[in-house]
Amino acid sequence: MTKPIWIKHAKQLATLASEVSGPRAKEAMSDLGLIEDGSLWIEAGIIQAVGTTEELEKRYSDKLHLAEIINATDHLVTPGLVDPHTHVVYGGSREHEFEMRLQGATYMDIMNAGGGIHATARFTREATETELIEQTTRRLDSFLAHGVTTIEGKSGYGMNLETELKQLRVMKKLQEQHMIDIVPTFMGAHAVPPEYKGREDEFVKHLIEDMLPLIAEENLAEFNDVFCEKGVYTPEQSEQILEAGKRLGLIPKIHADEIEPYGGAELAAKIGAISAEHLLKASEEGIKAMAKSGTIACLLPATALYLREEAAQGRKMIDLGVPVAISTDCNPGSSPTTSMPLVMNLACISMRLTPAESLTAATYNAACAINRQNQVGSLEVGKQADFVIWNTKSYQELQYLFGVNHVKAVWKKGVKVV
Ligand code: NIG
Ligand code: FE
Repeated sequence: MTKPIWIKHAKQLATLASEVSGPRAKEAMSDLGLIEDGSLWIEAGIIQAVGTTEELEKRYSDKLHLAEIINATDHLVTPGLVDPHTHVVYGGSREHEFEMRLQGATYMDIMNAGGGIHATARFTREATETELIEQTTRRLDSFLAHGVTTIEGKSGYGMNLETELKQLRVMKKLQEQHMIDIVPTFMGAHAVPPEYKGREDEFVKHLIEDMLPLIAEENLAEFNDVFCEKGVYTPEQSEQILEAGKRLGLIPKIHADEIEPYGGAELAAKIGAISAEHLLKASEEGIKAMAKSGTIACLLPATALYLREEAAQGRKMIDLGVPVAISTDCNPGSSPTTSMPLVMNLACISMRLTPAESLTAATYNAACAINRQNQVGSLEVGKQADFVIWNTKSYQELQYLFGVNHVKAVWKKGVKVV
């Protein structure tokens, strides 16, 4: 039997525990369930008790000598960060596009000329499973090093059955091989594949009739995502694809209103998507509709920065009652980063979230956006012992000292992984 683990004397233990169940909105996003001189008791990878050091010392007095003791004196301890939106499995790299964009080309210009998502799709179609596993493992290691213990991962760099299946199978293998948890999303409708140029509706039909049923049958994904954007998929096509997925048990997500206002937020609310992503150009009506339906806004401030765009209106969304999560959007084009701490900093700087809201958005609300709030996202009895010890004294300091990795140690399911 493995030893119990006793984490003690955390200067600040941000448990994220709360009475509110489900995605947190408004004031609930500011409640971090803070404990000064905090302590955790862990057995078999699961949290058994949370409280002050004094409380747990008393409670486990007859077992203390058996435990591995971790002294977190002067340190902040938080739940492992959750990244609810990544395109982490891909082949190749696109650094030349970075330079093209700096010289004035837009993201959509590059994509329409056969670059962007299409370029990564060519690399990913050519890559073997082993190559994809190798490249992705490096990124997963980097996520862990930045305090991220659970991520979502999307397919969408195949847009043909063979490569979409390859990406999802790679995720399944990595879920078994790697300490990080990966939650899979099918995103066959990430772009219109070149084979179907000008025949978009035929591709939608193929995706609905051939791809989705197979993905569902093989249990390869939990969510179904679409890039709903002018020049990619219309709101009508997006609705058809997402409704078809719903009938097969796949929960809808939407890349919405990223480049232009296009009714994506409204559609997310209408079909009951668990989350809508990006939302840089979401309309006020769309935001209000999301607040009403409880759809989570998954905001990606690193993408906005990287595309040199104005960030989404995170402050306004919270004020209007939308539960907000944040994510890296890790992908080779619009956000090649694995740093959730940087994303938390940017959520404050470019979207005016408070440091407390930003931490909620990167932990509990992020877990809700991938339906993992009962396992991860907060430090509560019965949940996975996924947590980070930071080289800062407080969550305020973590958000204030920006652009630096303050991770001291990362624990996943009761095992020290960093
Ligand atoms: O979320 N906007 C669409 N998809 C990704 C970018 C993918 C890529 O450029 O490779 C995103 O930003
Ligand atoms: Fe994305």
